[in-house]
Amino acid sequence: MTPTPTVDLTDLDMWARGVPYEQFARLRSEAPVAWSEEPDGGPGFWSVLRYDDIVAASRDTKTFSSSRGISFEDPTDEDMAARRTIIDTDPPAHTKLRKILSGSFTQRAVAVYQHFVEGLTEQVLDTGLVDGPFDFVDAIAKEVPIRVLAEIMGLPTDDLPLFIDLGDRLIANTDPAVTDVVWGRDDTDAYRLFPFRSPYGKQLWDLGRTVIRDRLAAPGNDLLSALLRAEVDGERLTERDLDNFFSIMVIAGNETTRIAIAQGVLAFCEKPAQWDRLRADPSLLDSATEEVLRWTCPTHFMRRTASADIDVAGARIRAGDKVVLWYVSGNRDYAEFEDPDVFDIARSPNRHLSFGRGGPHLCLGAHLARLEIRIVLAALAKRVASFELAGPPQRIRSNFTNGLRQLPVMIRPA
Ligand code: HEM
Repeated sequence: MTPTPTVDLTDLDMWARGVPYEQFARLRSEAPVAWSEEPDGGPGFWSVLRYDDIVAASRDTKTFSSSRGISFEDPTDEDMAARRTIIDTDPPAHTKLRKILSGSFTQRAVAVYQHFVEGLTEQVLDTGLVDGPFDFVDAIAKEVPIRVLAEIMGLPTDDLPLFIDLGDRLIANTDPAVTDVVWGRDDTDAYRLFPFRSPYGKQLWDLGRTVIRDRLAAPGNDLLSALLRAEVDGERLTERDLDNFFSIMVIAGNETTRIAIAQGVLAFCEKPAQWDRLRADPSLLDSATEEVLRWTCPTHFMRRTASADIDVAGARIRAGDKVVLWYVSGNRDYAEFEDPDVFDIARSPNRHLSFGRGGPHLCLGAHLARLEIRIVLAALAKRVASFELAGPPQRIRSNFTNGLRQLPVMIRPA
């Protein structure tokens, strides 16, 4: 018999209260590949919950395709053709797209931004760290990633608040506190050809087109100029390809890193001994960065679609089935991690799944995100003796992102 989870993983109000870690732990032992119906009439989906099975599925792109999108949504062929980005392209086409940018995101390549990120972080902390309670998301976490992205892509700094706002409305498209066009609640058919099936996806494309037009007139050394020069099989990228590349970079590069930073600080609020430990021993910065990533898992899952029948952990997945790889569950799997429910900034090894693992879609920006998180932690460790919650954190109502809308904190300066 097909195992069914006792928890409804599509219940977004549950996710708004917290990540269902205990339910995930039970599923990993009782129903590691479990079938769920979708309450909104969708076709239903498999949940892959164990670490090893997630890595194996990520690796096997022939059986587990990304071409039907990576979210719960079930777009038509026409929708997909309009909005396909690198992340929902399978090899071999994916390999060619990835080659355009991969050289710009190696560890060595992103190291050139170190001084920029350090300077930027100091500026943000100068204004953001104040006496009395303040919202850490608004004052600090949201400021750093978007400004780094602006530097790398050559985005106009005047437009950054708009980029942040549009990105939020897209990633958090299931939270009525963030957007007035809510996926799953509102009729979004009119926007099905735009990113996230949202009018804000269209706005992001429009903004991108303006930036692209200016860049074509005055190309530089930034990433966007590289995209404009790029050729795949002797052809330049189409206007639509550029729209989609632009939007995935803005969306993938901004919100995720913000979540890691904000949720990381929340972890240090709740586990002050780990903050003391980091401050006492800066050689732990690298391992602390990895542990923050494992612990916070900014992107809870990626979806795949089976292109052939396959048995996984005793479950028979059929061609065409929707398959959700729950990284947030794999990151707490006892089979891979010792004491996975302990936040341990010296953890080693730490082969977490927060950037994906084993497959060709492994986060393109992983080294950049690590650099940013590490620099922000290092700068905070110098200035902040301790963090304290100044109110309840407000989670985004989403099963996709582990985002915080607000993180009210107080600090004791070092
Ligand atoms: C903490 C921060 C971040 C997290 C947790 C994160 C997470 C992820 C995950 C889970 C994937 C999919 C992996 C898979 O399917 O195997 C991904 C892909 C991607 N990420 Fe990130 N990401 C982060 C930061 C960034 C940054 C800073 C950028 C760019 C500036 C970026 C750009 C991308 C792109 C372009 C892809 C698609 C890659 C492909 O399909 O080949 N990400 N990311």
